Amino acid sequence: MKISELRSIYLKFFKEKGHSVIASASLFPEDDPSVLFTSAGMHPLVPYLLGQTHPEGIRLTNVQKCIRTTDIEDVGDTTHLTFFEMLGNWSLGDYWKKEAITWSYEFLTSKKWLGFDPNKLSVTIFAGDEDSPRDDEAAEVWKSVGIPDERIYFLGKEDNWWIAGNSGPCGPCSEMFIEVDEIPKCGPDCRPGCHCGHFVEVWNDVFMMYNKSEDGKYTPLKQQSIDTGMGVERTAAMLQGVPSVFDTEAFIPLIEKIKELSSMEEFSKEEDTQIRIIADHVRSAIMIMADDRQVGPSNVEQGYIVRRLLRKAIHSADRLNIGTGFMIELTDLVVDMFKDVYKEVERNQEFIVKNLKAEEEKFRKTLTKALRRFDRIFQESNTITGQDAFLLFTSFGLPLEMTRDLAEERGIAIDMEQFTKQFEEHREKSRTATQGKFKGGLADHSEEITKLHTATHLLQTALRKVLGKEVTQNGSNITDERLRFDFTFSRKLTPDEVEQVEKMINDVIAQDIAVEQSFMKYDDAIAKGALAFFKENYGEEVSVYNIGEFSLELCGGPHVKSTAVLGKFRIAKQKKIGAGIVRIRAVLESNS
Ligand code: ALA
Repeated sequence: MKISELRSIYLKFFKEKGHSVIASASLFPEDDPSVLFTSAGMHPLVPYLLGQTHPEGIRLTNVQKCIRTTDIEDVGDTTHLTFFEMLGNWSLGDYWKKEAITWSYEFLTSKKWLGFDPNKLSVTIFAGDEDSPRDDEAAEVWKSVGIPDERIYFLGKEDNWWIAGNSGPCGPCSEMFIEVDEIPKCGPDCRPGCHCGHFVEVWNDVFMMYNKSEDGKYTPLKQQSIDTGMGVERTAAMLQGVPSVFDTEAFIPLIEKIKELSSMEEFSKEEDTQIRIIADHVRSAIMIMADDRQVGPSNVEQGYIVRRLLRKAIHSADRLNIGTGFMIELTDLVVDMFKDVYKEVERNQEFIVKNLKAEEEKFRKTLTKALRRFDRIFQESNTITGQDAFLLFTSFGLPLEMTRDLAEERGIAIDMEQFTKQFEEHREKSRTATQGKFKGGLADHSEEITKLHTATHLLQTALRKVLGKEVTQNGSNITDERLRFDFTFSRKLTPDEVEQVEKMINDVIAQDIAVEQSFMKYDDAIAKGALAFFKENYGEEVSVYNIGEFSLELCGGPHVKSTAVLGKFRIAKQKKIGAGIVRIRAVLESNS
């Protein structure tokens, strides 16, 4: 079965079970300062798992673009990827374990759907600990559909507990594995979760029951929800009976092209791994840059990840004697693969190509020198310190992780903790720190974040009133200290304009205007003049927030109830961050 068919029959199956199909959210999390990328289908749904009303209902399904940089070291094995697609279905306080598991079983094994041999299916279940009991309920349901005891494994939190980051909605989960005959069990203890490749995890049903606070406490959620995730590429590999995700149509064209460009005839196992790394990393970087926010390679935040992926790919390509420009050759293939599913990929193709070209030129200018310098440092001191890594990064653009890989290739183990600490300290000093963005964990919707979120709506409207309708949102990011708002405009604001915007917002705040949510069809909202950020993020029925008559915007919330609580709005900083894009940082201060 092809990937396109897998996507469509998954959605069809869950539509038949009463689910609304929602669009894939952006790879860039909205208003969540704690993570760089959307890493699971549930990520954009966190507010709804915590109890907010979703405009599309209580049963949802979709295919979600995901980036997991945590898996970067594993790329090259049979299943791990940095960019992948995840199929998911959600119950928001509606159905529970019985339906979720029964449907998972039906979809996986019924001849009408995926038709996997039920004898090749094993499942894992949470074994219980001091936070939550053993999940006998899930085990009973698996037994009732026909999974025998010997293919049900009880495992601990490490394997059978899902949480995105350190806090937020979470709960025990049950994972489903398909056995691969071609790869024999690695030993008598081989079981689901073992990395030898015999058991491939294809799907995870999460039973969301708790909210974990920052200080590690679990409290029951006011509604129990289901969150599931099925990896598209690995499930396709299992359906196609091929040994790895790189043997599916998601990668075959890329791998063939890379081999062709290398002009080599034979490839060792190590060279095959390099080819997989190139294919994965270039594909991921392209998918990140395809976002309408147009983030290219840089030294901060998501841009740093793009840079790291591309530079690592260039280094791997050099080992295979692939000439310059290979990333551009791969772009057409990636765009062709995704243009019908994610429209933004084709829309931003020109931006992607321009950046790939520039990044390769920039890196190649210094790569040879960087490697020479690396070897010299190594020869002189037999080690690479954080300070050395920092120098290699700032002077030659060698990403930290690449320096670590080069060191490992030469057999030196680096104390990564000390290495990262020194590197971060230096980076902090040079003011390119990434402001805690690598911490992981989801944002709690704290009071401050909620206030700044409402202030962001006020800011967008005020900017449009003062500067004109050409102002549109290009990106937004909120921490609990400030808001950051990027918008299209050709120049920075004059002091007078800054004052007008601030005054307009503070007047609205002073009038204590109610912030109200309503639900309507997307087209009706647009017809009413609602501001929408990126169209592809929205489903048919949308949530709209209005602040009196002043502002009307498509948004999932949350927001404050009325404006007086915001205090005093002040623009702290503004800067031009690109051709036609201005960035404002603003804060809310108390009135006293
Ligand atoms: N959120 C769960 C996962 O990503 C379904 O595995």
